[in-house]
Amino acid sequence: MADLRSLIYVSEATRPLSEADLGAMLYASRAHNATVGVTGLLIFERSVGPKGRFVQCLEGEGDSVARVFARRIVGASQHTTIEVVWEGPIERRDFADWSMKYARSIDAAPAETTDLLRRTGRLWP
Ligand SMILES: Cc1cc2nc3c(=O)[nH]c(=O)nc-3n(C[C@H](O)[C@H](O)[C@H](O)COP(=O)(O)O)c2cc1C
Repeated sequence: MADLRSLIYVSEATRPLSEADLGAMLYASRAHNATVGVTGLLIFERSVGPKGRFVQCLEGEGDSVARVFARRIVGASQHTTIEVVWEGPIERRDFADWSMKYARSIDAAPAETTDLLRRTGRLWP
């Protein structure tokens, strides 16, 4: 793929989210991402901050990543204070097999997260 890029952001949950809430979000996200060639990882850390923290890594063709982020993610009601912590070109996908992998902590997704940890160094002590 010519223009492969990644975007990583962090955000705060706006309300307590149940497993069913998360399941519905993931279902909708995976269905859409699959149609536009976006892959990635969503971490939801329930115990960080008042209602939980999201860290999401999106990867794919640059325009596709930008569109998913701007049109689908920024306006979603379940989170707020969205802050992009890394954005740039990548040589290969870390989550090629996942239209959106899900993890409850950085430790629960160890294999592919070396680059993620490097790029988001300040998020995890
Ligand atoms: C943390 C988070 C991550 C999301 N990731 C994606 C995604 O990767 N792809 C996508 O198409 N939509 C994504 N969405 C949007 C959801 O699929 C869905 O459209 C949204 O949560 C709908 O919520 P609302 O109608 O209550 O605002 C995400 C939403 C949130 C809150």
